[in-house]
Amino acid sequence: MSDPKKLFIKTYGCQMNVYDSERMAEALGGQGYVETKTPDDADMILLNTCHIREKAAEKIYSELGRYRGFKDAKPDLKIGVAGCVAQAEGEEIMRRQPMVDLVVGPQSYHRLPEMEDAVSRGEKALDTDFPEEDKFEHLKSRPKAARGATAFLTVQEGCDKFCAFCVVPYTRGAELSRPADRIIREAQDLVERGVREITLLGQNVNAYHGHEGGLAGLIWDLDKVDGLKRIRFTTSHPNDMDQALIDAHGTCDKLMPYLHLPVQSGSDRILKAMNRKHTREEYFALIERIRAARPDLLLSGDFIVGFPGETDQDFEDTMDLVRRVNFGQAYSFKYSTRPGTPAAEKPQMDDGLATERLHRLQELLKEQQVAAQEGMVGRDVRVLFEKKGREAGQLIGKSEYLHAVHAEADDAMIGTVQKVHVIEARTNSLHARLVG
Ligand code: 5AD
Ligand code: SF4
Repeated sequence: MSDPKKLFIKTYGCQMNVYDSERMAEALGGQGYVETKTPDDADMILLNTCHIREKAAEKIYSELGRYRGFKDAKPDLKIGVAGCVAQAEGEEIMRRQPMVDLVVGPQSYHRLPEMEDAVSRGEKALDTDFPEEDKFEHLKSRPKAARGATAFLTVQEGCDKFCAFCVVPYTRGAELSRPADRIIREAQDLVERGVREITLLGQNVNAYHGHEGGLAGLIWDLDKVDGLKRIRFTTSHPNDMDQALIDAHGTCDKLMPYLHLPVQSGSDRILKAMNRKHTREEYFALIERIRAARPDLLLSGDFIVGFPGETDQDFEDTMDLVRRVNFGQAYSFKYSTRPGTPAAEKPQMDDGLATERLHRLQELLKEQQVAAQEGMVGRDVRVLFEKKGREAGQLIGKSEYLHAVHAEADDAMIGTVQKVHVIEARTNSLHARLVG
């Protein structure tokens, strides 16, 4: 047998891309590729890209530029672009960077093996279709290699919401849910290979409809999977938080008390202009119901500042919403104009002002995040240990609330959930000791 070929995948953007990269590596495994950690000795370099903001998309072209020398030194090196930039810019990528051999959109990567064959024959390969067939089922089943304690599992893709700023409905297409039985099978397989925590992924994961009981129904089925200890899901839209899902946060022990529920803005005017289809009061009422079901739930959000037409008052409304809700974790972004989206047609805001607002919002969110971390000191939490820490004898894992936790513990505890007492809050992690 010939030596395996080496595949270097670089992943940008969201967790769905992390999952997709794993599946692409598996698909190319059938073509004789094994993954390598550096591009230096790779036979194929694949960039799995993100189109959500301009900066993320532009980064791809500079990254490709870096690989030109590699191709000169090794002419049969194959270079591919996958993911949402591939979907949005397709042929444009090959025009701007002729050394790119292969462009594959997020809905077509099950066709990678044939595309790789074509490139081996000296052809260029481009596929940005939204095919009828289910790409997940067309991929070869995952090899039975051992896995770490946590894994992502995509259950839903695409979005029908059309927020005025967002490219996702165009790059990932219409909402599509995978059938529950296939997801359960994939979860069982992951557990057999050592996984103890599964994060269900979807651009609109709580709009999942592959189970008659929606996402809550799927969670309750996963609750029955022996050996699976923890379930999480991300990302959700406020309008799809149904009562069954809220109730599950109160009653399903395996469902972790952490919820990422982007609101984007605290101004009704801007929410309307963004086409979010809910008001700030509706968001407050929803948070109240969720906290009634699970008082200790840690809430996370996404925010955009500098959306076209955002006034000082609109921004102050966002600050006020953040103060009232209190987020344990959050991501905030300056609005980025995305070609083809409705908001791109509107008069754009002054960039300096948007930057100033972003800094003010980030300061407030940081204060809340630090307070949430410090509030954990003196409490007992349960940690799923994932790996060894940097210091000898130390393990790293995550609490129920997704805080990174370090503790002195035996290596044999990797993959197990342990009770620990939090001693100290550090910048991005908690320091704890085992209890009992
Ligand atoms: N500009 C800035 N941020 C954006 N997001 C999505 N589109 C844009 C854009 N055009 C943010 C939203 C979303 C997160 C994944 O990225 O906050 O929730
Ligand atoms: Fe984008 Fe809005 Fe859909 Fe989220 S809900 S993926 S922000 S269009």
